[in-house]
Amino acid sequence: MKTPPYQILPDLLPQQYDDLRDSIAENGVDIPKVVDQEGNTLDGFHRQRACDELGIFCPSEVRQFATEAEKCEFILRANCRRRMLNRKQREKLIETYLVRDPQIADNSLGSLIGVSKNTVAKVREHLVAICQIDKFEKLRGRDGKERPTKYKRIIANTPKEAETAITIIGDLPDNCEGKTLDVTTAKRRARRNQSQKEIDRENAELWDDQNIRLYHRRFQDLIIEPSSVNLILLDIPYNKIFVPQVSDLARLAARWLVDGGLLAMYSGIICFNEVVRRLDEHLKWGWMGTSAWMGKGNLVQERQVVNNWKPVVVYSKGPWRKLRRWCDTSIVNTQEKNWHDWQQPLEDVEHWVRQFSKPGDLVVDPCGGGFTTAVACYRLGRRFIGCDCDATCVNKGLQRLAEERARREKLLGELKIWIEDSEGFRNPRWTVRETWNQCSGLDAQQLEVYLRLLPESHRAMWESLGKQSA
Ligand SMILES: C[S@@+](CC[C@H](N)C(=O)[O-])C[C@H]1O[C@@H](n2cnc3c(N)ncnc32)[C@H](O)[C@@H]1O
Repeated sequence: MKTPPYQILPDLLPQQYDDLRDSIAENGVDIPKVVDQEGNTLDGFHRQRACDELGIFCPSEVRQFATEAEKCEFILRANCRRRMLNRKQREKLIETYLVRDPQIADNSLGSLIGVSKNTVAKVREHLVAICQIDKFEKLRGRDGKERPTKYKRIIANTPKEAETAITIIGDLPDNCEGKTLDVTTAKRRARRNQSQKEIDRENAELWDDQNIRLYHRRFQDLIIEPSSVNLILLDIPYNKIFVPQVSDLARLAARWLVDGGLLAMYSGIICFNEVVRRLDEHLKWGWMGTSAWMGKGNLVQERQVVNNWKPVVVYSKGPWRKLRRWCDTSIVNTQEKNWHDWQQPLEDVEHWVRQFSKPGDLVVDPCGGGFTTAVACYRLGRRFIGCDCDATCVNKGLQRLAEERARREKLLGELKIWIEDSEGFRNPRWTVRETWNQCSGLDAQQLEVYLRLLPESHRAMWESLGKQSA
């Protein structure tokens, strides 16, 4: 059943709903449901459902509201006090509310729901980071007036302190917004923030050496040499709010890609038509691939469909260049969500990296998320540039790559030993390949990447193994 547009509070628990229905059956409805001037129910969804089930009329009160924000505030006022919500439900409610009315001030929303302004600010910060809502210069207070959002502030009591405050205010972290700090505290917070940034920078540079580069920024701010990218592979957020950014993406892809380079993009289906319309403006339609998974499908509430596949649209810059034969379907058995809520399975991402690029090519993922594409490129010997607007994603991505690097070091050590020990076998190359495949779970193409990373002496040993077995 489609969720009504104004049902922003979570459903009652089954027991609570049964109690409500029993009470209505016995005593009738004592509080009428509330509908707006367009006939949308704002309050009383469960009363209406119980009446429908009992076959009785649900009394209603029609109210006139001036704005959408007024309606949303009414819903919260009418419900939050009488419903006992747990922390997770409250956070979900804040999220749902902010997506509808992002300009409400944190303290106003906090007092409507019965949480602190900091709880609202935390949810807001996350939604801004993942581009679900904009960052506003001004927020709307309880009296309906808009006021500037919070500034970082340092109080200086002497000319020297004023001078210091000016030099460090730019180094304060974002969570100092709305706070007034004395100079000593501000210095400490700024220093800590700077050294964290330094660590992040060092991590990023470390990966530069490996031709894998991760950035914390919006893809609109990513600087990439024109006509240098062989493949753009990405998975966008599937919500309507993201759709306008597809135009930016298509425009940048047309600049970054080499002639005939490809953009392969996982897409949701609800906004699919809007997405392809925007891609069509700058790129050439090529094909549509499928990523499917076995097992439990996801229920898409809006269409009541159990979904087990995703489209992967493939566009080219300029005319389609002949590729070697490629397979447009990937079927996987796993769900992996350990690095990001919207993470794609690594095996699936590797499939698309292999189909559309070759070792040494430059691959870009402008919406990194859990940076699965970065890991696939690392394993398959492609160069990679990626970013995400959410700093947490980038830090986790760096951590994920560090784990991948440790795994690579271990496997390279083992590979050296297998090569050294395989001389006596009848078909030593085959033996090493088989052992490698079984122990690492990686395949022949990935073995090729690892072989190139071995020291000269071991590469020569591998070559001579080939000659012996020939
Ligand atoms: C669907 S997730 C990507 C998941 C990823 N493919 C994986 O396997 O983990 C989309 C990501 O895009 C990021 N994003 C949204 N808008 C962005 C923008 N303008 N610039 C950079 N990243 C953005 C979100 O923060 C989110 O992490």
